[in-house]
Amino acid sequence: MSMFPAMMRIKILGLLALPFALSGCDTLSGMTGAKGDWPYASLGNRTPLLVAHRGASGHMPEHTLEGYQRALNDGADCIEPDLVFSKDGVLVARHDTYLSTTTDVASKPEFASRKRKSPDPEFSDREDWWAADFTLAELKTLRAVQPFKGRPKTFDGLYQIPTFDEVLELAKSRVTVTSEPVCVYPEAKSPAYHAGIGHADMAEKILASLKKHGMDDAGSRVFIQSFEPDFVKKIDAMTDLPVVMLVSDKAALDAAMAMPGAPFWQGLGPNTGMLRDANGKSTGVIEAAHAKGIPVHPWTFRDDQPIDGKPIATSMKEFFALGIDGFFTDFAITGYAVRNDVLHGVD
Ligand code: G3P
Ligand code: CA
Repeated sequence: MSMFPAMMRIKILGLLALPFALSGCDTLSGMTGAKGDWPYASLGNRTPLLVAHRGASGHMPEHTLEGYQRALNDGADCIEPDLVFSKDGVLVARHDTYLSTTTDVASKPEFASRKRKSPDPEFSDREDWWAADFTLAELKTLRAVQPFKGRPKTFDGLYQIPTFDEVLELAKSRVTVTSEPVCVYPEAKSPAYHAGIGHADMAEKILASLKKHGMDDAGSRVFIQSFEPDFVKKIDAMTDLPVVMLVSDKAALDAAMAMPGAPFWQGLGPNTGMLRDANGKSTGVIEAAHAKGIPVHPWTFRDDQPIDGKPIATSMKEFFALGIDGFFTDFAITGYAVRNDVLHGVD
């Protein structure tokens, strides 16, 4: 008897098939996918998926169509839209439920009176402009800005906030640099908060958009992710797509694992800090997930935020050697180059 319930078996089989779908065949493509093409202990020794974290967020304002385009040009397999609701219930790509750090809203006199105390319990002390107070038409009048210090401001004020539907249209309209279909990795941000302020069910809305674009069956190049285990459990029961449990620390992983039916996810998205001990040895999180056939996609690799003080290329290689199956990076171009070095035996 299998250790996995039937649905989970189907989903894991679908998930393991995803890299094949991405590579198009079971041969070394020099990119993601073929079984045995990778020298490290990822599942099936397949090349780790390169997920463009918030787009090309190291170079351009995060969560813009132009940023996702650049990330794909830079070698990403997947683009990652974080999702929140507008006032009129449209899913839009934003990392935060507030708007001041990633848009020019503060410079718009017509919205000055909208600034208010947080409706989001996660940011209870914050005064800001909140996506949930703006209709889609109003959000579309804003322009994205670079929120990270030290990153280029060149593109500030140029690009709109995209809807999830627009992100999916973009994904369908093009391919990766190796001519593979584009993978989309949406994250439901704060689903409990959105439900609490009266929005429609986030799981239903995400799945409805995916269905509308023909990206909702087990073979679709989509992973759905969330930090909220209740949401992960709920949406897992609603879809054949692989669902990814995001965890910031071991306590969060343990809490999710303690829930009835766990693991009800087909991918694990841990903080990189959970995967190694102080001596750089594996903490066993990867091995435990792999023992259940669950791939591990840690976050976040950033050229300008070294891990343990090392160049990010060195850190990427160290985490590859641990056996990760995918990785989120703000700098897809770096991830692509480092991954290719490993594939081709370049030091
Ligand atoms: O979704 C993986 C990673 O993006 C989680 O961190 O806060 O950047 O969404 P965050
Ligand atoms: Ca995210």
